Amino acid sequence: MAVGILLVGGMGTRLMPLTKHTPKPMLTVAGLPVTEHQLAMARKAGITTVVLATSYLSELFTPYFGDGSKWGMKLLYAVEDSALGTAGAIANAAQLLGTDDSIVVLNGDVLSSHDLSEQIRQHESNRADVTIHVTSVEDARAYGCVSIDSLGQVIAFLEKMERPISNTINAGCYIFDPAIIKAIPGHRVVSVERETFPELIDSGRKIRAFLDDSYWLDIGTPKALLQGSRDLVTGIADASALKLADILRHDQHSLVMASASLDSSAIIDCGSCIGSGASIGAGAHVSASIIEAGAIIGRGATILDSYIASGARIDENAKISAQFVTDTEFLSIPT
Ligand code: GDD
Ligand code: MG
Repeated sequence: MAVGILLVGGMGTRLMPLTKHTPKPMLTVAGLPVTEHQLAMARKAGITTVVLATSYLSELFTPYFGDGSKWGMKLLYAVEDSALGTAGAIANAAQLLGTDDSIVVLNGDVLSSHDLSEQIRQHESNRADVTIHVTSVEDARAYGCVSIDSLGQVIAFLEKMERPISNTINAGCYIFDPAIIKAIPGHRVVSVERETFPELIDSGRKIRAFLDDSYWLDIGTPKALLQGSRDLVTGIADASALKLADILRHDQHSLVMASASLDSSAIIDCGSCIGSGASIGAGAHVSASIIEAGAIIGRGATILDSYIASGARIDENAKISAQFVTDTEFLSIPT
């Protein structure tokens, strides 16, 4: 059975100030950390052993996820004292696995409803060295551009081009033959996108594309983070992780986690979610937003297209639109 590595060590710079004290994968979308949604997706494909490859704010993962038994999984932690880059992180984490099974690597900031079981099946039946999930986007500039021949072989991998050569991109989910990972140089910074993949292609290795255009989103930008949460709440994205969560109520307009306190006159709509223990005052209106666990929204406040982090407190009758709010900062989300 395949095993997994989750790359969760990046700085999440584009999501400051939310990521000042919380690593990007621990930010909550639809009431749960991004990582929890990804673990549910991996579990669904039969993966039960996963290494979290951590670096930035690594100490914040273990108290929440522990040994993984709550999710019927075995979770291990690989900590990089300083970030090793994506391939360095994979090589470092794989040392904890010591296995001959296929290794599934996931970027830790992606929500994807693609068919991971089928990706693994095709990888193994093709006896590929690496099989990359490839999806299509309108503007490929922010991604790794992947060129594929008519037989599904990857013939070029070009990270973040000004003039993309295709609209097919790296969706950040790879199946590796473990021997390929063993050959990654250890203990130094290596990028899987800028070094490992181009080098493997140049040396004629079998790098296959798994094309699947199901729901897919990189939540690494402010707008995408809010979009991802709404898509999970409204059912556009696969929200299997919610099956194991403590929920007060959930319909296609809103999600309220257990122990949140909600005045009966408050309106929660447009895919908003209210985290556990949050408090929403009388007459407040929360629309298309994320209210994290424990945040307090005063009576009569209006919250639109915003992320209110744990510990934040919004005054009575305040009007908040397109903002990130933490316990100490307000930041407008760039349009
Ligand atoms: N452990 C560890 N160590 N994790 C890391 C490191 C590191 O040094 N550097 C990055 N990561 C993790 C991040 O936490 C994130 O989950 C993932 O690797 C990808 O990094 P991002 O910073 O989010 O990269 P990106 O979104 O600009 O581009 C990547 O994702 C795109 C798809 O969303 C690339 O893989 C692109 O090729 C791809 O198209
Ligand atoms: Mg990203």
